[in-house]
Amino acid sequence: VRAARRHMSEKFVIKGGAPLQGSVTVSGAKNAAVAIIPAALLSRDICFIENLPLINDVIVLRDILTSMGAVVDMPTASSMKIDARGVTSWQAPYEQVRRMRASYYLLGVLLGCFGKAEVGMPGGCDIGLRPMDLHIKGFEALGATVERTSEGYYVQADPLVGGEVYFDSPSVGATINTMLAAVRAEGETTIVNAAKEPHIVDLANFLNTMGASIKGAGTDMIRITGVEQMHGCDYAIIPDQIETGTFMIMAAATGGDVTVKNAIPFHMEALSAKLMEAGSEVVEGEDFLRVIGNPSPKAVNIKTMPYPGFPTDLQQPMVAYLSRCQGASIITESIYESRYRYVDELLRMGANIRVADRVAVIEGVDKIYGASVNISDLRAGAALILAGLIAEGETHIHRLRHVDRGYQSIEKKLQDLGANIERVEDLDAPM
Ligand code: EPZ
Repeated sequence: VRAARRHMSEKFVIKGGAPLQGSVTVSGAKNAAVAIIPAALLSRDICFIENLPLINDVIVLRDILTSMGAVVDMPTASSMKIDARGVTSWQAPYEQVRRMRASYYLLGVLLGCFGKAEVGMPGGCDIGLRPMDLHIKGFEALGATVERTSEGYYVQADPLVGGEVYFDSPSVGATINTMLAAVRAEGETTIVNAAKEPHIVDLANFLNTMGASIKGAGTDMIRITGVEQMHGCDYAIIPDQIETGTFMIMAAATGGDVTVKNAIPFHMEALSAKLMEAGSEVVEGEDFLRVIGNPSPKAVNIKTMPYPGFPTDLQQPMVAYLSRCQGASIITESIYESRYRYVDELLRMGANIRVADRVAVIEGVDKIYGASVNISDLRAGAALILAGLIAEGETHIHRLRHVDRGYQSIEKKLQDLGANIERVEDLDAPM
């Protein structure tokens, strides 16, 4: 646990050039964990959750639940026992909530538990506007009123009743928040144009194991029949789709040969297709993927889309990879309006990328070079690490707190694959 609470002033020093070789085991899915941990409050009982990633977002959630009266133990680094019997508050602590995006799931959970909730404005990655209108639409469909307060949101429903909600775009967060409240509402709820990401299905499976009645998760129509009570359970979280993809792209980019274990190949189809199009070999096993990089990869075009399309969370490492592929690649970011901030850092490393609005045009170059670069958000961190791995010379990567929010021991996993990466104290840390 201490390892996950890294000091802010650390940096990675990477000496590029080594092809990654060997095997790496993926941790549990961050974006499933951050929904499933608060969801444990929906039962007045004990939930035991396994295959959790040991990352800062998980530690922050543990602290939030503890300060709300839950008894939370971590018997191992990847498991958590949550006893929610002591939780009586429908308010979440403001200071901790603003440290992460997914704390907004407490709105749905507490609304389901108590018929009301007050939660501060969530923090998280700065990658665009990230509005909450669809979450609010979901709560209102359940008979709730939503008030914006000076610090966040106050939601209440008397009674909380099932309803139908249509989402204009399939928002992951709004689908999850609506499910979290609807499992305890009276009657049936239908979510139309729901998000279909693997962690939506994982959360539904967790809630059903706790006694909820959710059908259709993973399709664009989810039906939930509310139940009066939910009980404790034992549950193992799915492997992280984005961490899996990050290592796959790194294997391809370094011209390596890496087996990514504890993966679900089915979740990776959009990425596997693009890596093969660029010239890599991708071998799918039951619970692993092997990527054999091509020494002269080709440019590919990509449009990020909701699942099962190409995930926006892999756009950043993919662009870093394409910076050295032969030819011009065109990337269209259709989910977030400002997820290209890290491109400035890649330019400083010698990449040739032009960004106009949501489109990035990448002209592959023969070489990129080590530089001192700053991480702006979680997946930008993955992109810059990848750039360091393929750059000539030494790359210094600052602001590791973004990476520590979402990747468990990334430098150790990379060292085991033969990368030359060290975490050191950052004496010249940028402000
Ligand atoms: C989740 O964010 C993930 N976060 C993100 O992962 C991921 O990038 C995103 O889904 C898309 O897959 C968590 O699961 C904690 P959305 P979320 O609601 O739920 C618009 C990472 O790097 N929208 O599906 O916030 C929104 O502006 C992170 O791990 C509204 O218009 O994403 C965006 O354009 C970053 N109104 C689109 O929908 C709303 O009320 C998708 O957002 C909500 C969203």
